[in-house]
Amino acid sequence: MNATPDEAPRQRRLLTEIPGPRSRELWARRERAIPQGVSTTLPVFVVRAGPGILEDVDGNRLIDFGSGISTTNAGNSAPLVVEAIREQAGLFTHTCFQVTPYVGYVEVCERLNQLTPGDHEKRSFLVNSGAEAIENVVKVARYATGRPGIVAFDHGFHGRTLLTMTLTGKEMPYKRGFGPFAPDVHRAPYSYPFRGTGHLADTIAVLETTVAADEVAAVVVEPIAGEGGVVVPEPGWLAGLAGWCRERGILVVADEVQTGFGRTGDWFACEHEEVVPDLVATAKSLGGGLPIGGVTGRAEVMDSVHPGGVGGTFGGNPASCAAALATIRTLESEGLVERARVIGEVVMARLGKLASTVASVGEVRGRGAMVGIEFVGDDGITPDREATGRVLRRCHEAGLLVLSAGTFGNVIRLLPPLVISDELLDEGLDILERALVAS
Ligand SMILES: Cc1ncc(COP(=O)(O)O)c(C=O)c1O
Repeated sequence: MNATPDEAPRQRRLLTEIPGPRSRELWARRERAIPQGVSTTLPVFVVRAGPGILEDVDGNRLIDFGSGISTTNAGNSAPLVVEAIREQAGLFTHTCFQVTPYVGYVEVCERLNQLTPGDHEKRSFLVNSGAEAIENVVKVARYATGRPGIVAFDHGFHGRTLLTMTLTGKEMPYKRGFGPFAPDVHRAPYSYPFRGTGHLADTIAVLETTVAADEVAAVVVEPIAGEGGVVVPEPGWLAGLAGWCRERGILVVADEVQTGFGRTGDWFACEHEEVVPDLVATAKSLGGGLPIGGVTGRAEVMDSVHPGGVGGTFGGNPASCAAALATIRTLESEGLVERARVIGEVVMARLGKLASTVASVGEVRGRGAMVGIEFVGDDGITPDREATGRVLRRCHEAGLLVLSAGTFGNVIRLLPPLVISDELLDEGLDILERALVAS
């Protein structure tokens, strides 16, 4: 049964240990049916959700600081989204936009063209996931420039398909054993201020010495490296990189899959750096929980591809389009982009000083409602994966869902839904602080 907004759970409640007995029973079934390659952060089986809360089969209600990896920015089962999906599902569920079109697809593309950075003329098309959006920005960039090369960065994550896995920087668990990888992908250092690596001059020096610029179609870059550990590049790095690309006819592709749709306190994280990308890949929170991704770019770049060169059966499915339009309306009408900034201020006011008070915390960083806590050993710099795991487990046991991240597995990532109440946010931070101090 679906929870109506009034019935939706709104408070943390622990009735059993985490995971509880019913979740453990289901986990045994899951192990017989599903391979271990599909891993799980917290093995509680969810039955419903409320704003900032996930309820499991044992009746436990956990505070959600993960948003399904930044996918429910506008809330889980947000009322407008649920209504839009229901209405669309009753009208028609599929035609394939390339067979017979429908207006929802056009409207989502119009909204993407308006909302993504830059006031130049744009075009968009729709796909099913973040990885598919990245696959397609690369296709379009290669086609438009006639060049094969793509530059990706250390600490980057772009998905699990062959090409996006190739672009991804971290070997384990994403790449090991899955090669050979796609050709013509070059890697450059990403700015990581806490570790003192990837200053703009270093990044450009690597590019200039290892890559033939006139053979490069695009750089694919996350404005903040999410999976890489919520790494916020040094100010000016992204703009400097974009400038270097522009002078060489290389397209700038922003992977805003995780950072998009209000997460960082602007619609898109590139805006903080005043960088206007040539192409933008979106997914995750665009669909409010339904699968949809967007490929948006300069009209002349996007229009270069011949008819039939891009698309797919399900891309921009009618229900996903209805959900996306309702998600964007929710973000706008509830002021959630601004709310992300407030959440960021609250979190940093509580956690910002931890780096100087808790020995195992090296840095707390982020932008808006995207925050990372990096754990280090006694020397203040060696990544401490074990401490990260301990804090994660303590949070989970106390009913707070947080995610780990980081090339070195030593970052806890906070991505609360932007609809979370002040009370739940505070309660979650209380739990986190206790777990940190106990670690
Ligand atoms: C920055 C970034 N790009 C791409 C992806 C891949 O998206 P998807 O899992 O929808 O394929 C992710 C997923 O976490 C991501 O964080």
